[in-house]
Amino acid sequence: MFSEPELETHVYDKPPAHANADWTIDQDWASYSAEEHETWDILYARQKEMLPGRAAQAFLDGIDILNLSKPGIPDFRELNRVLMDATGWEVVAVPGLVPDDVFFDHLANRRFVSGNFIRKREQLDYLKEPDIFHDVFGHVPMLADPRFGDYMAAYGRGGLRALKFGTLKQLARLYWYTVEFGLIQEPEGLRIYGAGIVSSYGESVFALDDASPNRIEFDLERVLRTEYRIDDYQQNYFVIPSLDELLRVTVETDFKPVYDKIADMPDIAIAKIIDGDEVLTKGTQEYAQSKSGDAIIV
Ligand code: PHE
Ligand code: FE
Repeated sequence: MFSEPELETHVYDKPPAHANADWTIDQDWASYSAEEHETWDILYARQKEMLPGRAAQAFLDGIDILNLSKPGIPDFRELNRVLMDATGWEVVAVPGLVPDDVFFDHLANRRFVSGNFIRKREQLDYLKEPDIFHDVFGHVPMLADPRFGDYMAAYGRGGLRALKFGTLKQLARLYWYTVEFGLIQEPEGLRIYGAGIVSSYGESVFALDDASPNRIEFDLERVLRTEYRIDDYQQNYFVIPSLDELLRVTVETDFKPVYDKIADMPDIAIAKIIDGDEVLTKGTQEYAQSKSGDAIIV
């Protein structure tokens, strides 16, 4: 995600010297080491194994379309040929997190920004900022789906509007609870499509199988009002009935009246169930309670 407060590295105020004015850089694929390619292969192998029966159909199709089973860190030049053909999207490399307006402008123009670095071996399970495995394996398969591709481009345009309205905090929650941590109801059962889940070994299982989190039917207003945590597994997941329905309530909806309506309403605390929620699973919250320390909440 963007605007995460306590990141230590790969964060810049302006494009670093080696970057273009739009913050993009050359992926410089040739300079990845053998060890770095192998890190990708290790991460890929264990995620791939858990995907059947867990990942959304669109995500599984995306893995095939993009030929992500090919060993090693994907070369964006190759990846983009297929992705462009599928949905007009491309992946561009950036040195780290980019400012919100830059991020939204890229999305609106069907460019998904990806970190070009890969995590270290001792960070296989957790790192604070998105690396190429999260960005490419987590996000790009869904971008090969025309509906999700349209959603993300519209989100970019919506982000630029939200900056003008001063409602970025609300809109960012939509990104968090769909693009990063979304669940979808499929005929065979609940599936994961959020990049933060599909790129995480532990959360892929936790999000679907654990008794701890709430699983609630997606409702736009509700989601825009709901806080989220950025430091551990989610305490709430929101479930969309289909990608078509997601598009109907986002891309085809003017958010201005919604922002106006919720302006005077309180934010909803993490894990709280409110009147009107269609609760699929009422979580025990046992996992969150078992962890010491305060959640980092946005
Ligand atoms: N339709 C939203 C608006 O009017 C923008 C948006 C589209 C947001 C798709 C998210 C996803 O601002
Ligand atoms: Fe992400």
